[in-house]
Order: sequence, then structure tokens, then C-alpha cells
Amino acid sequence: MLAKNKIKSFFRQSFLLICILFTCFQSIANENTMKYLINDITKMYMSSMVFIFINQPLINQKGGDKGDLFGERFMQNIKQTYLAKYDEQFPAEDHLVKRALVQAMVEVMNDNQALIYDDEIGFKGIIPATFAFQLSAKLATKGVGLKIKFTRTAGSIRNKLNKPDKWESSIMLKIIKKPQIYYDENAQLNGKPAIRQFTPLPMAPYCLACHGSPKNNPLNKNRKKSDWTNIDITGFEMENWTMADFGGGISISIEKSVFQ
Ligand code: HEC
Repeated sequence: MLAKNKIKSFFRQSFLLICILFTCFQSIANENTMKYLINDITKMYMSSMVFIFINQPLINQKGGDKGDLFGERFMQNIKQTYLAKYDEQFPAEDHLVKRALVQAMVEVMNDNQALIYDDEIGFKGIIPATFAFQLSAKLATKGVGLKIKFTRTAGSIRNKLNKPDKWESSIMLKIIKKPQIYYDENAQLNGKPAIRQFTPLPMAPYCLACHGSPKNNPLNKNRKKSDWTNIDITGFEMENWTMADFGGGISISIEKSVFQ
């Protein structure tokens, strides 16, 4: 009787141990999956911003074939931009969240098709920041638990809808002196458990054409200083940033429920 109990207890203990080990491995696997996904999403998004930036001449040109900006061709171009930027293939669309992002990118450009082909309008205003904003709004309608935001410290925000939330403000405070990617595995989004990542955007001289001071504004070229405007080409007041300022960044959140 005693031996039988001993065997029983041995099996019970081993079973428990196996269960603990299994849960442990599973949670490590899950942590990796989460981190990979948020990194992929960040890079997919960044590549689309770069493509929109490089293609300002095509977006704003009069007439001609603009097919590179729409549908399958648009995505092929973003995939090439990704490859050139990160020296690796665009991620497989093996997760709902990635598929939703790709779909949203194409839809945003489709929404702007009439504007992009309107030859009456010289500067269309489809710049990385507006594309990013429209993409965030589009994603919000998809309800897949993915939120992307282009944001900066609350003091100088152009679009109020880009205002940082508590998490973003606290992270920016931490990294503003030494910009680096910040990943948080135990954050919240809309009161639900989420992973979040903030990727700072390096400041570049061309940012100053809009966010800098009137002397950086291309609209003031060949104008007398007394005629200079502090309104940039997109119609916003310039913020007088310099190269030493913080450029803001991309904030990405994914609800943990999408991993279950
Ligand atoms: C052609 C003008 C232009 C250039 C160049 C430009 N931006 Fe902007 N930026 C804008 C506009 C317009 C918005 C507001 C977009 C919107 O409606 O959401 C914006 C928004 C932003 C935001 C989001 C917060 C906010 O104020 O709404 C950040 C951060 C930002 N820009 C940083 C940069 C950085 C960094 C660069 C250079 C790498 C850059 N921008 C280049 C025009 C520009």
C-alpha cells in the first residue's frame, strides 16, 4: 500500500514538474513571438514612411503613370524599400496583425487616389506624417488590437490626435537625452494588457524645412527676410526645432489577446 502511494506521489510530482517546464517554455516562446511581431510591424511601417518620402516627386508630379503608389505595385515597392533598408526580406504575412497593416497601407493610398491624380493641386500633402496619421486612423477601424501612432512630447504637437498618452510621455522622458528603442512587455492599451514599443525617429536636416525656423523654409528662398513666412508648405506654423531637438517617434502597441 505504502509503495503504491509512493509511486502515485512520484508520478504526481513529475507531472507537476513537466507542467511547470511546459508553461515556462511556452511563455518564453510567447515572449519571443511578441517581440518579433512588434519589430516586424515597426519595420514594415518605417519602410512605408521611407517610400512615401522618396516618392514625393511622383506623388506631386502632374500627370504620368502613378501606378507605383497603388495596390499590389505599391506593396511590391514597399517590400523593396524594406529589403534595401534592413537588408532582409519583408516579413511573411503570417499574422492577422501584419495582414491588417498591409491592407490598411493599400487602402490609405486608394483613399487618396483622386487627390494624387488631381493636376490642379501642386503639393498634395501626402507626406510621411500625414500617411502615418491616416494609416493609424485606418487601423483603428480594423479592430485587430494594433495601434500605431506618430508622436512627440506634448509641448509641440501639430495634430492633437497625435498627442502622447501617459506611457508615451514617460518613455520619451526616459529616452529623450539618449534616443533608443524602448520595448515594454507589460504595458496596457485601453485598459487591456499589451506590448508596446517606442522607436525614436532620428532628426534629419530635411525635417527642418517644416519643423525648423523660417530660414529653413524653402518657401522663403529668394525672398527678402522681411517677407519670410513661418508657415511651412503643409500650412502649419513652424516650431523652430534645430538638429539638436528630439524628433519624436513611432509608438506601436499590440494587445496581448492577439497572441492567444
Ligand atoms: C513637408 C513638411 C514636413 C517634413 C519635411 C517633416 N514633417 Fe513632421 N509633420 C508634418 C506635418 C504636416 C505633421 C502633422 C501630420 C498629421 O496631420 O498628423 C507632422 C507631424 C510630425 C510628428 C507627429 C506629432 C505631431 O506634431 O503631430 C512628428 C513626431 C514629426 N512630424 C517629426 C518629423 C521628423 C523627425 C521629420 C524629419 C525626419 C519630419 N517630421 C519631417 C510636416 C513635416
